Amino acid sequence: MVIPVDDPGDPRLEVFRRNERGLANRPDRRDDAGAGLFLAEGDLVVERALRAGCTAVAALVDDARPPAVAHRLDTQAVPVYAGGERMRALVTGLGVPHAIIAVFRRPRRPTVAGLVAAANRLVLVEAVDNPVNVGGIVRNAAGLGWDGLILDGTSADPLARRALRVSMGQAIGFPHARLRHLAEAVEQLRAAGFTVAALTPAADGVDLADLAAQPPAARLAVVIGAERAGLSAEVLAAATWRVRIPMAGGVDSLNAAAASAVACWALRPAVPRAQLSGSAGPGDEPVDEPVDEPVDDAVG
Ligand SMILES: C[S@@+](CC[C@H](N)C(=O)[O-])C[C@H]1O[C@@H](n2cnc3c(N)ncnc32)[C@H](O)[C@@H]1O
Repeated sequence: MVIPVDDPGDPRLEVFRRNERGLANRPDRRDDAGAGLFLAEGDLVVERALRAGCTAVAALVDDARPPAVAHRLDTQAVPVYAGGERMRALVTGLGVPHAIIAVFRRPRRPTVAGLVAAANRLVLVEAVDNPVNVGGIVRNAAGLGWDGLILDGTSADPLARRALRVSMGQAIGFPHARLRHLAEAVEQLRAAGFTVAALTPAADGVDLADLAAQPPAARLAVVIGAERAGLSAEVLAAATWRVRIPMAGGVDSLNAAAASAVACWALRPAVPRAQLSGSAGPGDEPVDEPVDEPVDDAVG
């Protein structure tokens, strides 16, 4: 049922007033066992969440031009509230609101052990705390055929609004797991036969082109570090290789997401990713949406 609303103080709209912290509980952000909510903005991301099998809680749409996907939510007995732009902007605090935003229950995440067992190409991130960078890394990894992502406890949430927008919703279906200290994941991966390439611009690293020229490892992980500090000494020590992308022009490093694109391309799997549990379905149309708000944290 589409429910017209014109009062921004309407208590039924409470869920749309929550910020990132209010939507995701602490385990969602830091450990493996989250069960909170996430916010999908725009019809593309809402479509992708539905296709990934996520359960919608409520939607808020433009009463003048509700997108077609609103009808699907309506037929699933999800409350679809409809109102004007000003009312929706006041409720959400999101500036110019998308024609649809919807709140979903989070899908279950795989465990680190589950991902290590099922995947052959993994991206690991340590202390990448900007959701824009995490969204970019997910999009690069998914688009270049990698199997999943492991994050440490301080990295940003792949289902945060800005991460979802940058990844074009890919993060909903891209398997990702968390653990507190990334060095433990590196040790698990190496014990399971993975070659682990820690990406660092340090001069003593192996040139990425030389690693890419070797016969491809059957099981391979790349590790991306923090925007300012790079990777921790523990992760660098636990990895198989330190790997550098040679820089020129006096530039000391790439942005974390850009480095992930270069490495995921150079070390891409010969055979594209088979769908792991929780991965997105085929036929998604990539339509870029603008990142329309200031990024207040470092983009590395
Ligand atoms: C902005 S960089 C961090 C720079 C930091 N000063 C350092 O020394 O690592 C963010 C991450 O992207 C990756 N990265 C960026 N440029 C790189 C390069 N030229 N070679 C290898 N990795 C790079 C690394 O994983 C790095 O931790």
